[in-house]
Amino acid sequence: MLFFLLSALVWANLALAQIQAPALFGAPPISSHDRIYTGDQTSNTVTVINPSTNEVLGTIALGDERLSGTIGPQYIKSVNSHGLGFSRDGKYICSISVTTNTVTVIRTLDNSIVSQTFSERAPHEAFFSADNRTVWVASRGTSHVDIIDGIKGGIIGTITTEAGPSKVLFSPDGKLAYVNHIRSATLDIIDVEKRQVAVQITGLADVFSSDMMLSADGNRLWAAHKMVGKVTVIDLQQRKIITVLDTGPETNHPNFALINNVTHGFVTVAALDETKVYRQDLPSQSPVYVGAIKSSGIEPHGLWPSPDNTRMYIVNEHSDTVDIIDTTTLTVIHTLQVGQEGQALIYVAGAVTSGDGTQNLSRQGLGFEVENKLVPISGNKNSTALVTIRAVSGLDMVQIIGRNLKVNTTYQVSASCYECKGIQIPLLEFTGMPTATGCAVAPQVLGFFKFFGVYDINSLRVKGTAKKL
Ligand SMILES: *[C@@H]1O[C@H](CO)[C@@H](O)[C@H](O)[C@H]1NC(C)=O
Ligand SMILES: *[C@@H]1O[C@H](CO)[C@@H](O)[C@H](O)[C@H]1NC(C)=O
Ligand SMILES: *[C@@H]1O[C@H](CO)[C@@H](O)[C@H](O)[C@H]1NC(C)=O
Ligand SMILES: *[C@@H]1O[C@H](CO)[C@@H](O)[C@H](O)[C@H]1NC(C)=O
Ligand SMILES: *[C@@H]1O[C@H](CO)[C@@H](O)[C@H](O)[C@H]1NC(C)=O
Repeated sequence: MLFFLLSALVWANLALAQIQAPALFGAPPISSHDRIYTGDQTSNTVTVINPSTNEVLGTIALGDERLSGTIGPQYIKSVNSHGLGFSRDGKYICSISVTTNTVTVIRTLDNSIVSQTFSERAPHEAFFSADNRTVWVASRGTSHVDIIDGIKGGIIGTITTEAGPSKVLFSPDGKLAYVNHIRSATLDIIDVEKRQVAVQITGLADVFSSDMMLSADGNRLWAAHKMVGKVTVIDLQQRKIITVLDTGPETNHPNFALINNVTHGFVTVAALDETKVYRQDLPSQSPVYVGAIKSSGIEPHGLWPSPDNTRMYIVNEHSDTVDIIDTTTLTVIHTLQVGQEGQALIYVAGAVTSGDGTQNLSRQGLGFEVENKLVPISGNKNSTALVTIRAVSGLDMVQIIGRNLKVNTTYQVSASCYECKGIQIPLLEFTGMPTATGCAVAPQVLGFFKFFGVYDINSLRVKGTAKKL
């Protein structure tokens, strides 16, 4: 009887602790107090969405949009809005600006800035610990996690980790922190009270893991490996790698939702424009592939479920949209237009406890044109270039992802202008970086010039020539 009472209590506590998603069965339904946030790199904003009405309320501008003021010598605001985390009480979010090393803490009630701390080289993702106050920051250019006082601002502690920490997550009881890396195939497990690494799980599928996620029960951790298109599945009860999933090229973020009370892993696979879904009955079992959800847009990236497990929200990085997935049918039921080049996405329950939470919001980055064109590269059957063109302040941003490229080859992108009578005009050139498979990739080629209204997107051509050595 006592045992039964105790376990009921533990269950109630766990359920109570999980007002935030991913949550176990019994968390509250989607409410008008909840908010979804996306970190939009090009518009340099955080988009704010009300999930009860599927309405984009506006954006929090962290600085100027690309390229207006941001490369000027007098520029002192933040650049490249990227990572996002939140406090469990829903009162704060933390946003990372990767280029300026800024950790910004924002009050969810009125979108006001509580503190801004300049941390170290290339912070990527951060999360509030269970105290709802300290923010633990993974800075990729270092070998440690910085602890920031989210209210007052300022670095108050540093924990040594393996090289290139990428993200920090906390166990449901708040006693452990998990850190993945971009230069070490290791998961560091930190004792939060002692502020030091207690255990390491080695032998992840690759040294580069930009994102990872914990399931609602806290017993599974999936680490995504973008460069090799895999996910390492870890059982945290046994602290053991269970399997490695071949998820596909440009695997971005994993997250979890319960479907019929069974944990399912969702993994965005950017180059396939889909999110793969796997069923995992127990942390010790290999996940079983269920199927893929086709994105409405290009390059799905960050994703987060609602606490009641009925929805999964996925940001399409190259379409500037968020797809809303019904987890019962595993289909896109609605798509929203958000800020430009969304990276992370979070769902925060109980963010706005009074008022409508629209103070301090702007329209920066909303409503701009964006087009994508997948161009086959002449001369090699498998080589492609994904060309994304976005209107930015005064110019257009032309972004290219080159895939399955040849080593030591220079690629030239050309297009014909509307007045050019079919003559191809060279626009820009790029070379790929060699990969382990013998091919080369060009993950992010950027050019800024006027494209819309000048060039015909359907005339885009990409051709390779042997590089002069
Ligand atoms: C942080 O917030 C959670 C959720 O509201 C709450 O259960 C917990 O007690 C808070 N922690 C502290 C230290 O206030
Ligand atoms: C945000 O809104 C609050 C409340 O309306 C206001 O006090 C504050 O000055 C505003 N601006 C910023 C940048 O936080
Ligand atoms: C859901 O699963 C948990 C853990 O496996 C179990 O304790 C709980 O009773 C289940 N709830 C329902 C409604 O099936
Ligand atoms: C294209 O890709 C397929 C499958 O990866 C491979 O078998 C084939 O050799 C590739 N062809 C070329 C021309 O690279
Ligand atoms: C590419 O160029 C480098 C530097 O000249 C050379 O070492 C390498 O062998 C070349 N690789 C291929 C596949 O041609």
